[in-house]
Amino acid sequence: MSQLHKDHHEFGALLQAVRDIAAGFHDGLDGRPVAADLEAAGPMTDALPDSGAGAPAALARFSAEIEPWLSASVGPRYLAFVTGGATPAAIAGDWLAAACDNSTSMAAGSVATRVTRQTLDWLMQLFDLPMDTFDGCFTSGATASNLLGILTAREFCGATLGIDVAANGAMALPAIPVLSACPHASMIKALSIAGFGRECVIPIDRLPGTEAMDPASLARAFGGLGSGPKIVIASAGTVTGTDFDDLNAIADLCAANGAWLHVDGAFGIFARCMPADDKLDRAAWTAGLERADSITGDSHKWLNVPYDSGFFFTRHANLLERVCSLGAAYLVTDEADPAYMLRSIESSQRFRALPAWMTLAAYGRVGVRAIVEANCAQAARLGKWLEDRDGWALMKPVKLNVVVFRSTRANDQKTALAALNATGMVYASPGAWEGTPGMRICFSNWMTTDDDVAIVEEALDAAAEAIG
Ligand SMILES: Cc1ncc(COP(=O)(O)O)c(C=O)c1O
Repeated sequence: MSQLHKDHHEFGALLQAVRDIAAGFHDGLDGRPVAADLEAAGPMTDALPDSGAGAPAALARFSAEIEPWLSASVGPRYLAFVTGGATPAAIAGDWLAAACDNSTSMAAGSVATRVTRQTLDWLMQLFDLPMDTFDGCFTSGATASNLLGILTAREFCGATLGIDVAANGAMALPAIPVLSACPHASMIKALSIAGFGRECVIPIDRLPGTEAMDPASLARAFGGLGSGPKIVIASAGTVTGTDFDDLNAIADLCAANGAWLHVDGAFGIFARCMPADDKLDRAAWTAGLERADSITGDSHKWLNVPYDSGFFFTRHANLLERVCSLGAAYLVTDEADPAYMLRSIESSQRFRALPAWMTLAAYGRVGVRAIVEANCAQAARLGKWLEDRDGWALMKPVKLNVVVFRSTRANDQKTALAALNATGMVYASPGAWEGTPGMRICFSNWMTTDDDVAIVEEALDAAAEAIG
């Protein structure tokens, strides 16, 4: 019997061993440094094995060579970037997506596309978006969703000018103005991939003390651009300030000036889950989102689904399909359910919706709301603590789930961040506010508790002392 067939024969035992390792990893999160010491891990330069050792031996190698050097990013105090955790149900869904290995490329023969359709509907219900207006797809993350946004917007610009960009290429288009106040770095990457260029963005002024777009500045910019099609990139939750553009005002201007409105709400879209009695009425900050032409959201952030999972909504599914469709005799089916290879980047694609479906089925709207509320409260608590703590300064008031701060003792913030992360108790990322360097902590993990915030505070005190 070949090793492969032997592994298949003993598949149940293999999965049991994997279960034990995964459960042990989760049980040990508290004792694991939040970020691994990669110098101690050493280089990984082994040559490709000639004859493999089999799955149990590969698993043993994983335990010895890889697992010790993984971060605790799934745990409660990995607070860098916008790092969502993974709920138990979402992990179960992810495992099943791999084990059952169905594709959502085409509808034929599997319910996977129907589940994908339902999960997108559930997300629209979660975010109070009209299901009869929007359609979309799962993506690998918000960067891919932003790319789909810019590509669909470009198709719209072509259609406005009577040019079929998907058929004839972007070279047939005149220069298309792209306007934004604070595009996320991934949007700049998307503009590079799409051939607009990283430097194409016409900068729109921000409202004082925020990263939010000043609609009056957008109106002025439109005034100088003539009547041709345009693209506006707005934000529902900027990555540092967590500022929200006034989407209603911007949508009005876009409608009057023939502009496509793309909204990057990678994590900020979850503000729509905040309860009605939220004192800051943060759900209202996203008002007008339902008027966007396209919307980016991330499930591996605040939905707490494992990587890689994002979603994209547009009110112009026909244009999205024009961009993404493909044809070949062997790909034609006549199912009523959508074939997601026609409306997303990947032709062959994993059953990405399943982890999101599982977490929504398991915890529902109330469960997602509880995560978002708790994380916002944790950010508010840490912000308050930093306000008058020796050695640290809060750089801006906390609005949502991000805390931006700096060391008042270190000569440079890089050293201060290194001292904080060296505690092994927390992992924060660099940041800057209005050009002044600092660091940022972002709460977006269901596992984080108030006790974890207390540990972060302890780590900050220890780091301040180490800095001197
Ligand atoms: C507002 C925003 N847009 C886009 C992205 C890119 O997301 P991803 O890394 O999942 O592609 C991020 C990531 O932090 C983000 O915060």
